[in-house]
Amino acid sequence: MKKLKVTVDEKHRMPKTHTTSIYFMLLLFFKMASSRDSILAHQLKLSSSLTCRLIGGLTREQRTVCHGSPDTAAIAFEGLQMAVKECQHQFRWHRWNCSSLLTKSSNPHASGIMKRGFRETAFLYALTAAGVAHSIARACAQGRLLSCGCDPLGYRASHDRGRARANKWEWSGCSHNLAYGVEFSKKFLDIREQVDDLQSKINVHNNNAGRSILASHMEVRCKCHGLSGSCQLRTCWRAAPDFRVVASSIKRQYRKALIVAQEELNNDPSILRGRPRGRRRSRARPAPKTSLLFLEKSPSFCEVDPKMDSAGTSGRVCRIGRTSRTGSCDLLCCGRGHALIRKSSIKPCNCTFHWCCRVDCQKCQDDKWVAICK
Ligand SMILES: *[C@@H]1O[C@H](CO)[C@@H](O)[C@H](O)[C@H]1NC(C)=O
Ligand SMILES: *[C@@H]1O[C@H](CO)[C@@H](O)[C@H](O)[C@H]1NC(C)=O
Repeated sequence: MKKLKVTVDEKHRMPKTHTTSIYFMLLLFFKMASSRDSILAHQLKLSSSLTCRLIGGLTREQRTVCHGSPDTAAIAFEGLQMAVKECQHQFRWHRWNCSSLLTKSSNPHASGIMKRGFRETAFLYALTAAGVAHSIARACAQGRLLSCGCDPLGYRASHDRGRARANKWEWSGCSHNLAYGVEFSKKFLDIREQVDDLQSKINVHNNNAGRSILASHMEVRCKCHGLSGSCQLRTCWRAAPDFRVVASSIKRQYRKALIVAQEELNNDPSILRGRPRGRRRSRARPAPKTSLLFLEKSPSFCEVDPKMDSAGTSGRVCRIGRTSRTGSCDLLCCGRGHALIRKSSIKPCNCTFHWCCRVDCQKCQDDKWVAICK
């Protein structure tokens, strides 16, 4: 991957290099670079087909996509890893905390919870689909992929142009290629859903919800030009936000997720309908694009149950205090109670500043009581 980056950079930089005016030298340089490109491309292909074999838990169809565009699939895999890390952050105080996704093949889609219809499952589909689109959109703009670059015209639509003129700024610079990221996320993830059943339709809906939420958070970033920052001209481009922002938004949708109406089981649903859980009497309505849908009630995740991807909560650090707080010992320990354990660490303390420039500190023992679920 590193090697690829070098060649792409050179390719982009070369037309801009005006330092050498000797025509034939330039010509020679181009020739050398292009022959080296093809060798590197070949090496890349070899290492990438290895990548496709090393990624566990891919379906046959996904493997085909991977071999077709191995470099993009490798970035997609980075997006999946980012999603798993973010899941751990978002669920750090939940009974189910995403740790089960780290096992075995390191492909989150291979874990048991992805085959269920829980609210957590819905969250994961949306998060991973958004993660893949996010990583690829950025990688395109960073020149890490041969198959895509900056978003070429996605944001130069006519209505944009009018607005840009009025505010004295224009689209320029390198926009993250959201369209390409979304397209590959569909191609690579939705293709898993080959079975024509309700669960598959829900999975695709949740994938789309994650990508829609990502799209709704795209940012406009600008840079000023002109004498000493006078900002006579501003150029702006579209960028994907920090992934934490997207994940937090998907987490909010997780809390409001709709349960798919039981009637749907009998119908052939072209439009999925759902209702808030616990309101049996409220009418099911067509699910909005950014809503998450789920099919079955989650287990308590209190006890160890490998079939449910549940590691249990015994041994988890919990928060003493208000019961309603996320991660409170009452909620997290499932009524088994908690134990207090003293954790000590050495910290610098009583620091004094000596002119100039030295700081002397004493070493102090720092004792903390930590609550652990029984
Ligand atoms: C998540 O839960 C597992 C199993 O209960 C535990 O071992 C792990 O430390 C937890 N991770 C975090 C970040 O709390
Ligand atoms: C900081 O220094 C003062 C004076 O030397 C001492 O009395 C105090 O115990 C020290 N504090 C800690 C936390 O060690």
